[in-house]
Amino acid sequence: MSLLAFWSLGIAAADAPAGRSIYLAKCQTCHGPSGQGDGPAARALPNRPRDFSKPAFWSSTTEEQIRQVILEGKPGSIMRGFPMPERQLSDLMLYLRSLERSPE
Ligand code: HEC
Repeated sequence: MSLLAFWSLGIAAADAPAGRSIYLAKCQTCHGPSGQGDGPAARALPNRPRDFSKPAFWSSTTEEQIRQVILEGKPGSIMRGFPMPERQLSDLMLYLRSLERSPE
């Protein structure tokens, strides 16, 4: 199955509002309310989180890599892992994807 087909299936089964609640509870303090890496806890960090609203972020990574960072964290950074059931991860991924904005 192609990656695209797999991605669409994931979207059909996932729920963005549910993903939003997870994001607001666990991620926004660092990643910011709209995913731009500007949460209050991130302002003082030497390595600011990447900007999820930028198409360049999405074209520079894969869904697989993002899922892995969320579950396992990024070694050597403040980004720790957030282990969660597959269903919640799919909801969260769908919400993260919705943060992407068209280039201005
Ligand atoms: C304590 C602050 C903090 C929290 C909470 C946090 N992150 Fe992060 N996250 C970071 C930082 C800082 C980085 C960048 C790490 C680096 O590259 O040095 C990062 C990196 C990432 C990346 C990798 C982006 C890339 O560079 O490819 C993803 C994806 C991510 N975070 C998603 C999440 C999600 C989803 C949550 C909530 C479940 C979350 N983060 C919670 C601080 C945080």
